[in-house]
Amino acid sequence: MTNTLLILPGDGIGPEVMAEVTRIIDWFGARRGLKFDVSEDLVGGAAYDVHGVPLADATMARAQEVDAVLLGAVGGPKYDALDFSVKPERGLLRLRKEMDLFANLRPAQCFDALADFSSLKRDVVSGLDIMIVRELTSGVYFGEPRGIFEEKDERVGINTQRYTESEIDRVARAAFELARKRGNKVCSMEKANVMESGILWREVVQRVHDADYPDVELSHMYADAGGMQLCRWPKQFDVIVTDNLFGDLLSDVAAMLTGSLGMLPSASLGAPMANGRPKALYEPVHGSAPDIAGQGKANPCACILSFAMALRYSFDRGDEATRLERAVEKVLADGVRTADLMQAEGATPVSTSGMGDAILAALDASL
Ligand code: IPM
Ligand code: MG
Repeated sequence: MTNTLLILPGDGIGPEVMAEVTRIIDWFGARRGLKFDVSEDLVGGAAYDVHGVPLADATMARAQEVDAVLLGAVGGPKYDALDFSVKPERGLLRLRKEMDLFANLRPAQCFDALADFSSLKRDVVSGLDIMIVRELTSGVYFGEPRGIFEEKDERVGINTQRYTESEIDRVARAAFELARKRGNKVCSMEKANVMESGILWREVVQRVHDADYPDVELSHMYADAGGMQLCRWPKQFDVIVTDNLFGDLLSDVAAMLTGSLGMLPSASLGAPMANGRPKALYEPVHGSAPDIAGQGKANPCACILSFAMALRYSFDRGDEATRLERAVEKVLADGVRTADLMQAEGATPVSTSGMGDAILAALDASL
Protein backbone atom coordinates (compact mmCIF):
# COMPACT_ATOMS: atom_id res chain seq x y z
CA MET A 1 0.00 0.00 0.00
CA THR A 2 1.37 3.44 -0.87
CA ASN A 3 1.50 6.10 1.84
CA THR A 4 0.12 9.42 0.68
CA LEU A 5 0.61 12.71 2.48
CA LEU A 6 -0.65 16.21 1.80
CA ILE A 7 1.49 18.91 3.40
CA LEU A 8 -0.12 22.28 4.10
CA PRO A 9 2.53 24.52 5.69
CA GLY A 10 0.17 27.52 5.99
CA ASP A 11 1.20 30.83 7.55
CA GLY A 12 3.68 32.37 9.96
CA ILE A 13 6.13 29.82 11.32
CA GLY A 14 4.20 27.01 9.56
CA PRO A 15 6.53 26.80 6.53
CA GLU A 16 9.69 26.88 8.70
CA VAL A 17 8.64 24.09 11.03
CA MET A 18 7.24 22.06 8.13
CA ALA A 19 10.59 22.25 6.33
CA GLU A 20 12.09 20.29 9.23
CA VAL A 21 9.27 17.74 9.10
CA THR A 22 10.04 17.22 5.40
CA ARG A 23 13.64 16.35 6.30
CA ILE A 24 12.36 13.82 8.86
CA ILE A 25 9.98 12.30 6.29
CA ASP A 26 12.91 11.94 3.87
CA TRP A 27 14.96 10.27 6.58
CA PHE A 28 12.30 7.61 7.13
CA GLY A 29 12.22 7.02 3.37
CA ALA A 30 15.99 6.70 3.04
CA ARG A 31 16.82 4.87 6.26
CA ARG A 32 13.70 2.91 7.17
CA GLY A 33 12.27 2.14 3.76
CA LEU A 34 9.09 4.00 4.68
CA LYS A 35 8.24 5.79 1.45
CA PHE A 36 5.71 8.59 1.29
CA ASP A 37 4.11 10.08 -1.77
CA VAL A 38 4.07 13.74 -0.68
CA SER A 39 2.19 16.64 -2.25
CA GLU A 40 2.13 20.21 -0.98
CA ASP A 41 -0.48 22.95 -1.15
CA LEU A 42 -1.72 26.18 0.42
CA VAL A 43 -4.00 26.84 3.38
CA GLY A 44 -4.98 29.87 5.46
CA GLY A 45 -3.69 33.31 4.57
CA ALA A 46 -1.24 31.80 2.09
CA ALA A 47 -4.19 30.33 0.17
CA TYR A 48 -6.18 33.56 0.48
CA ASP A 49 -3.31 35.53 -1.09
CA VAL A 50 -3.41 33.31 -4.18
CA HIS A 51 -7.03 32.13 -4.43
CA GLY A 52 -9.05 34.67 -2.42
CA VAL A 53 -10.23 31.86 -0.13
CA PRO A 54 -8.41 30.18 2.78
CA LEU A 55 -8.79 26.73 1.21
CA ALA A 56 -9.24 26.11 -2.50
CA ASP A 57 -11.71 23.41 -3.61
CA ALA A 58 -8.93 21.45 -5.31
CA THR A 59 -6.96 21.40 -2.05
CA MET A 60 -10.05 20.22 -0.18
CA ALA A 61 -10.54 17.44 -2.72
CA ARG A 62 -6.91 16.32 -2.41
CA ALA A 63 -7.22 16.31 1.40
CA GLN A 64 -10.12 13.87 1.07
CA GLU A 65 -8.00 11.46 -1.00
CA VAL A 66 -4.75 11.23 0.93
CA ASP A 67 -3.97 9.02 3.91
CA ALA A 68 -2.98 11.97 6.06
CA VAL A 69 -2.84 15.76 5.94
CA LEU A 70 -0.02 17.52 7.81
CA LEU A 71 -0.79 21.14 8.60
CA GLY A 72 1.60 23.79 9.95
CA ALA A 73 -0.36 26.80 11.22
CA VAL A 74 -2.81 29.39 9.93
CA GLY A 75 -3.41 33.08 10.57
CA GLY A 76 -1.57 36.34 11.09
CA PRO A 77 -2.12 40.06 11.63
CA LYS A 78 -2.13 40.68 7.89
CA TYR A 79 -5.48 38.88 7.71
CA ASP A 80 -7.13 40.34 10.83
CA ALA A 81 -9.35 42.74 8.91
CA LEU A 82 -10.66 40.13 6.46
CA ASP A 83 -14.31 39.19 6.40
CA PHE A 84 -15.07 36.35 8.84
CA SER A 85 -15.97 34.00 5.98
CA VAL A 86 -12.49 34.11 4.43
CA LYS A 87 -10.34 34.36 7.55
CA PRO A 88 -7.42 31.88 7.58
CA GLU A 89 -9.04 29.89 10.43
CA ARG A 90 -12.01 29.13 8.18
CA GLY A 91 -9.69 27.01 6.00
CA LEU A 92 -8.80 24.83 8.96
CA LEU A 93 -12.42 24.59 10.11
CA ARG A 94 -13.48 23.55 6.60
CA LEU A 95 -10.93 20.73 6.59
CA ARG A 96 -12.13 19.50 9.99
CA LYS A 97 -15.79 19.69 9.04
CA GLU A 98 -15.69 18.26 5.49
CA MET A 99 -13.31 15.44 6.41
CA ASP A 100 -15.59 14.85 9.42
CA LEU A 101 -12.62 14.67 11.82
CA PHE A 102 -14.67 14.20 14.95
CA ALA A 103 -11.97 12.95 17.33
CA ASN A 104 -9.21 15.42 18.12
CA LEU A 105 -6.40 13.79 20.11
CA ARG A 106 -4.34 16.27 22.10
CA PRO A 107 -1.70 14.61 24.24
CA ALA A 108 -0.24 16.66 27.08
CA GLN A 109 3.01 15.03 27.90
CA CYS A 110 5.68 16.52 30.09
CA PHE A 111 9.21 15.81 28.88
CA ASP A 112 11.32 15.32 31.95
CA ALA A 113 14.03 17.66 30.68
CA LEU A 114 11.42 20.43 30.45
CA ALA A 115 9.55 19.91 33.74
CA ASP A 116 10.96 23.14 35.17
CA PHE A 117 9.31 25.16 32.40
CA SER A 118 5.88 24.49 33.79
CA SER A 119 4.29 27.17 35.92
CA LEU A 120 3.41 24.32 38.28
CA LYS A 121 5.80 22.56 40.63
CA ARG A 122 8.00 19.85 39.14
CA ASP A 123 6.42 16.98 41.09
CA VAL A 124 2.94 18.00 39.89
CA VAL A 125 3.92 17.72 36.21
CA SER A 126 6.96 15.47 35.82
CA GLY A 127 5.97 12.27 34.05
CA LEU A 128 2.60 13.74 33.11
CA ASP A 129 0.98 11.89 30.20
CA ILE A 130 -2.66 12.66 29.54
CA MET A 131 -4.71 12.59 26.37
CA ILE A 132 -7.54 15.00 25.73
CA VAL A 133 -10.06 13.77 23.19
CA ARG A 134 -11.90 16.84 21.95
CA GLU A 135 -15.02 16.53 19.79
CA LEU A 136 -14.15 18.57 16.73
CA THR A 137 -16.98 18.74 14.22
CA SER A 138 -20.01 19.88 16.15
CA GLY A 139 -21.13 21.77 19.24
CA VAL A 140 -21.08 25.55 19.48
CA TYR A 141 -18.45 25.86 16.71
CA PHE A 142 -20.95 24.74 14.08
CA GLY A 143 -24.46 24.82 15.64
CA GLU A 144 -27.28 26.75 13.96
CA PRO A 145 -28.70 29.33 14.36
CA ARG A 146 -25.59 31.46 14.50
CA GLY A 147 -24.91 35.04 13.59
CA ILE A 148 -25.30 38.65 14.64
CA PHE A 149 -28.94 39.72 14.33
CA GLU A 150 -30.98 42.86 14.80
CA GLU A 151 -33.47 42.59 17.61
CA LYS A 152 -35.66 45.50 18.68
CA ASP A 153 -33.18 48.36 18.95
CA GLU A 154 -29.95 46.50 19.48
CA ARG A 155 -27.94 43.64 17.97
CA VAL A 156 -27.67 40.15 19.40
CA GLY A 157 -24.85 37.63 18.83
CA ILE A 158 -26.01 34.03 18.72
CA ASN A 159 -24.22 30.67 18.69
CA THR A 160 -25.84 27.35 19.35
CA GLN A 161 -24.52 24.44 21.36
CA ARG A 162 -25.94 21.35 19.72
CA TYR A 163 -25.04 17.65 20.00
CA THR A 164 -26.82 14.61 18.62
CA GLU A 165 -26.61 11.25 20.36
CA SER A 166 -24.61 9.74 17.52
CA GLU A 167 -22.06 12.56 17.64
CA ILE A 168 -21.50 11.95 21.35
CA ASP A 169 -21.52 8.19 20.89
CA ARG A 170 -18.73 8.10 18.29
CA VAL A 171 -16.34 10.39 20.15
CA ALA A 172 -16.97 8.49 23.40
CA ARG A 173 -16.02 5.26 21.61
CA ALA A 174 -12.81 6.86 20.33
CA ALA A 175 -11.92 7.84 23.91
CA PHE A 176 -12.66 4.39 25.36
CA GLU A 177 -10.66 2.66 22.61
CA LEU A 178 -7.66 4.91 23.32
CA ALA A 179 -7.96 4.42 27.07
CA ARG A 180 -7.69 0.65 26.61
CA LYS A 181 -4.26 1.16 25.03
CA ARG A 182 -3.13 3.48 27.86
CA GLY A 183 -4.18 3.79 31.51
CA ASN A 184 -7.70 2.42 30.93
CA LYS A 185 -9.37 5.49 32.52
CA VAL A 186 -11.73 8.03 30.96
CA CYS A 187 -13.01 11.22 32.56
CA SER A 188 -15.86 12.88 30.63
CA MET A 189 -16.33 16.63 31.07
CA GLU A 190 -19.41 18.78 30.38
CA LYS A 191 -21.69 21.21 32.21
CA ALA A 192 -24.65 18.95 32.92
CA ASN A 193 -25.52 21.22 35.84
CA VAL A 194 -26.52 24.07 33.49
CA MET A 195 -26.76 22.70 29.93
CA GLU A 196 -29.18 20.19 28.41
CA SER A 197 -26.52 19.25 25.87
CA GLY A 198 -24.37 18.39 28.89
CA ILE A 199 -27.09 16.17 30.38
CA LEU A 200 -27.35 14.27 27.09
CA TRP A 201 -23.56 14.10 26.81
CA ARG A 202 -23.23 12.50 30.22
CA GLU A 203 -26.06 10.05 29.57
CA VAL A 204 -24.71 8.87 26.19
CA VAL A 205 -21.11 8.50 27.41
CA GLN A 206 -22.35 6.41 30.34
CA ARG A 207 -24.51 4.29 28.03
CA VAL A 208 -21.66 3.56 25.61
CA HIS A 209 -19.49 2.66 28.56
CA ASP A 210 -21.99 0.30 30.17
CA ALA A 211 -22.81 -1.42 26.87
CA ASP A 212 -19.37 -1.87 25.35
CA TYR A 213 -16.55 -0.66 27.63
CA PRO A 214 -17.40 -1.77 31.20
CA ASP A 215 -13.72 -2.68 31.71
CA VAL A 216 -12.66 0.97 31.36
CA GLU A 217 -12.89 3.14 34.48
CA LEU A 218 -15.26 6.05 33.76
CA SER A 219 -15.86 9.23 35.76
CA HIS A 220 -17.73 12.46 35.00
CA MET A 221 -16.75 15.97 35.95
CA TYR A 222 -18.15 19.43 35.33
CA ALA A 223 -15.80 21.13 32.89
CA ASP A 224 -15.04 24.06 35.20
CA ALA A 225 -14.06 21.68 37.99
CA GLY A 226 -12.06 19.78 35.38
CA GLY A 227 -10.05 22.91 34.59
CA MET A 228 -9.38 23.36 38.28
CA GLN A 229 -8.35 19.71 38.74
CA LEU A 230 -6.05 19.90 35.72
CA CYS A 231 -4.12 22.65 37.51
CA ARG A 232 -4.31 21.05 40.95
CA TRP A 233 -3.27 17.45 40.23
CA PRO A 234 -3.22 16.63 36.50
CA LYS A 235 -1.77 13.15 36.99
CA GLN A 236 -5.17 11.92 38.23
CA PHE A 237 -6.25 11.88 34.56
CA ASP A 238 -5.54 9.44 31.74
CA VAL A 239 -7.99 10.18 28.90
CA ILE A 240 -10.33 13.18 29.07
CA VAL A 241 -13.25 13.29 26.62
CA THR A 242 -15.09 16.55 26.13
CA ASP A 243 -16.94 18.73 23.62
CA ASN A 244 -15.55 21.12 21.03
CA LEU A 245 -15.46 24.36 23.05
CA PHE A 246 -14.55 22.89 26.45
CA GLY A 247 -11.91 20.83 24.66
CA ASP A 248 -10.47 23.96 23.08
CA LEU A 249 -10.09 25.58 26.50
CA LEU A 250 -9.03 22.53 28.49
CA SER A 251 -6.42 21.48 25.94
CA ASP A 252 -4.75 24.90 26.17
CA VAL A 253 -4.72 24.57 29.95
CA ALA A 254 -3.28 21.06 29.72
CA ALA A 255 -0.73 22.21 27.14
CA MET A 256 0.62 24.91 29.40
CA LEU A 257 1.05 22.43 32.26
CA THR A 258 3.78 20.87 30.20
CA GLY A 259 5.65 24.15 29.97
CA SER A 260 5.85 24.74 26.26
CA LEU A 261 3.28 24.99 23.54
CA GLY A 262 6.16 24.43 21.15
CA MET A 263 6.23 20.74 22.04
CA LEU A 264 2.64 19.60 21.62
CA PRO A 265 1.29 17.68 18.62
CA SER A 266 -2.29 16.74 17.76
CA ALA A 267 -4.19 14.32 15.58
CA SER A 268 -7.71 14.78 14.24
CA LEU A 269 -9.29 11.53 13.15
CA GLY A 270 -12.49 10.60 11.34
CA ALA A 271 -14.12 7.43 10.07
CA PRO A 272 -12.09 4.73 8.28
CA MET A 273 -11.61 5.17 4.51
CA ALA A 274 -11.85 2.38 1.94
CA ASN A 275 -8.25 1.30 2.67
CA GLY A 276 -9.03 0.96 6.39
CA ARG A 277 -7.04 4.02 7.41
CA PRO A 278 -8.94 6.79 9.20
CA LYS A 279 -9.44 10.20 7.64
CA ALA A 280 -6.70 12.16 9.38
CA LEU A 281 -5.14 15.56 9.85
CA TYR A 282 -2.11 16.20 12.03
CA GLU A 283 -1.06 19.61 13.30
CA PRO A 284 0.91 21.20 16.12
CA VAL A 285 -1.18 22.75 18.90
CA HIS A 286 0.71 26.04 18.64
CA GLY A 287 -0.36 28.79 16.27
CA SER A 288 1.41 30.70 13.52
CA ALA A 289 3.46 32.90 15.92
CA PRO A 290 3.74 35.85 13.49
CA ASP A 291 6.05 37.72 15.91
CA ILE A 292 8.89 35.29 15.25
CA ALA A 293 7.99 34.09 11.74
CA GLY A 294 10.76 33.97 9.16
CA GLN A 295 13.57 34.30 11.70
CA GLY A 296 14.53 30.65 12.11
CA LYS A 297 13.65 30.80 15.81
CA ALA A 298 10.58 28.56 15.88
CA ASN A 299 10.59 25.22 17.64
CA PRO A 300 9.78 22.48 15.07
CA CYS A 301 9.22 19.76 17.72
CA ALA A 302 5.41 19.99 17.91
CA CYS A 303 5.13 19.63 14.14
CA ILE A 304 7.67 16.79 14.08
CA LEU A 305 5.81 15.03 16.89
CA SER A 306 2.60 15.47 14.90
CA PHE A 307 4.24 13.47 12.12
CA ALA A 308 5.07 10.83 14.77
CA MET A 309 1.35 10.68 15.54
CA ALA A 310 0.71 10.19 11.81
CA LEU A 311 3.13 7.24 11.80
CA ARG A 312 1.20 5.73 14.72
CA TYR A 313 -2.45 6.44 13.83
CA SER A 314 -2.47 6.56 10.01
CA PHE A 315 0.37 4.28 8.99
CA ASP A 316 0.21 1.80 11.85
CA ARG A 317 3.93 2.21 12.58
CA GLY A 318 3.89 2.71 16.32
CA ASP A 319 7.45 1.37 16.38
CA GLU A 320 8.78 4.14 14.12
CA ALA A 321 6.64 6.73 15.92
CA THR A 322 8.29 5.72 19.18
CA ARG A 323 11.71 5.94 17.51
CA LEU A 324 10.99 9.54 16.50
CA GLU A 325 9.56 10.50 19.91
CA ARG A 326 12.61 9.02 21.64
CA ALA A 327 14.89 10.99 19.33
CA VAL A 328 13.15 14.23 20.33
CA GLU A 329 13.35 13.27 24.00
CA LYS A 330 17.06 12.47 23.66
CA VAL A 331 17.81 15.82 22.06
CA LEU A 332 16.02 17.64 24.88
CA ALA A 333 17.82 15.58 27.50
CA ASP A 334 21.10 16.57 25.82
CA GLY A 335 20.18 20.21 26.42
CA VAL A 336 19.48 21.23 22.82
CA ARG A 337 17.03 24.15 23.03
CA THR A 338 15.23 26.46 20.67
CA ALA A 339 14.62 30.00 21.95
CA ASP A 340 11.21 29.17 23.47
CA LEU A 341 12.88 26.57 25.69
CA MET A 342 15.66 28.80 27.04
CA GLN A 343 15.85 29.51 30.74
CA ALA A 344 19.40 30.60 31.51
CA GLU A 345 20.49 34.03 30.36
CA GLY A 346 23.47 33.93 28.05
CA ALA A 347 22.93 30.39 26.77
CA THR A 348 22.70 30.09 22.99
CA PRO A 349 19.56 28.66 21.46
CA VAL A 350 19.66 26.57 18.30
CA SER A 351 17.73 27.63 15.23
CA THR A 352 14.74 25.81 13.78
CA SER A 353 16.99 23.87 11.41
CA GLY A 354 19.54 23.35 14.20
CA MET A 355 16.85 21.50 16.13
CA GLY A 356 16.08 19.51 12.97
CA ASP A 357 19.80 18.62 12.61
CA ALA A 358 19.93 17.40 16.21
CA ILE A 359 16.83 15.23 15.83
CA LEU A 360 18.16 13.74 12.57
CA ALA A 361 21.44 12.95 14.31
CA ALA A 362 19.53 11.26 17.15
CA LEU A 363 17.58 9.25 14.57
CA ASP A 364 20.85 8.14 12.93
CA ALA A 365 22.13 7.12 16.35
CA SER A 366 19.00 5.05 16.94
CA LEU A 367 19.83 2.61 14.12
C1 IPM B 1 -7.36 25.13 18.15
C2 IPM B 1 -7.51 26.56 17.72
C3 IPM B 1 -8.64 26.65 16.71
C4 IPM B 1 -9.92 26.31 17.43
C5 IPM B 1 -8.76 27.97 15.97
C6 IPM B 1 -7.49 28.37 15.29
C7 IPM B 1 -9.91 27.95 14.99
O1 IPM B 1 -7.69 27.37 18.83
O2 IPM B 1 -7.15 24.27 17.27
O3 IPM B 1 -7.40 24.86 19.34
O4 IPM B 1 -10.53 27.15 18.11
O5 IPM B 1 -10.33 25.14 17.34
MG1 MG C 1 -7.44 26.37 20.69
